[in-house]
Amino acid sequence: MGEHLISCNDLTVYEIEKLLSIAQYFETKQQGLPNISSVFRDKFIANLFLEPSTRTRFSFEVAEKKLGANVLNFQSGASSIQKGETLYDTLKTFESLGIDVAVIRLSEENTLEKLKGAINVKIINAGEGRIAHPTQALLDLYTIRKYFSTIKGLKVAIIGDIAHSRVARSNINVLKKFGANIILSGPSNLIPDDLHEEYLPIDEAIAQANVVMMLRIQFERQTISLVDSVEEYNQKYGLTKKRLAYLHPDAIILHPAPVNRGVEMDDVVVEHAQSKIFEQIANGVFVRMAVIERALGGEDIGYYH
Ligand code: CP
Repeated sequence: MGEHLISCNDLTVYEIEKLLSIAQYFETKQQGLPNISSVFRDKFIANLFLEPSTRTRFSFEVAEKKLGANVLNFQSGASSIQKGETLYDTLKTFESLGIDVAVIRLSEENTLEKLKGAINVKIINAGEGRIAHPTQALLDLYTIRKYFSTIKGLKVAIIGDIAHSRVARSNINVLKKFGANIILSGPSNLIPDDLHEEYLPIDEAIAQANVVMMLRIQFERQTISLVDSVEEYNQKYGLTKKRLAYLHPDAIILHPAPVNRGVEMDDVVVEHAQSKIFEQIANGVFVRMAVIERALGGEDIGYYH
């Protein structure tokens, strides 16, 4: 009962459609979710963030509380991980405690896929190294759909530090399933060799795009040594006030945030009418409610379907 969410690779178009339609249901019903707190009141969810997070962590916590589940926030610094306990043993401990779902963010890659078969706790990936951030891609798709009736043929320009971006990888995966055309742009040393999407200089990428998805330079992954200076980066690769002149009037601007204001994006662009950054954050709650409901086996419980 219930499903892991490790990667968007594991989701079919049908499953994504279903998740987004449940998210839509939660968004429209947010003022009056019938009986929901009683359905999930015996369920326990642990949020285990081994890398910093604001949006994803709190978005999951809000979503879990809206669903009426019991929320446990794991404090890595105060846990036995500090005594050398492995993630596997931490999750085995959760299993023994009767925890149903673990929402996990971590730097190590290709770890969650292995763990999911070894424990009786459903895992939701909240960001895994550079490889996957599935709930971010789902909430981005949900946001794009509010502005475009179909994804097929849509031009989505992903611009910035793509090499270190789990958001880029999960988005490319999901958007291509729905027929979007992906354009990559940014410093050539931050475009990974294994991504074979069209590459365009930034001005052209912005001019062609229906959706401009800006990415943060991931300083914490030592990218700073790969760019000359933040000022130069802003001039060469940033979505500056000046570059707004290239933006189509119907295009939208996305960014997973946190934003390095004045680096990949000027202040005025963050607050621009075509920027949907804060809507992305709001939409994340409903999408994560749908993902949690799926992990808890809501369909089997018969709450909503
Ligand atoms: N977009 C995103 O993952 O933000 P946080 O790192 O704040 O969770």
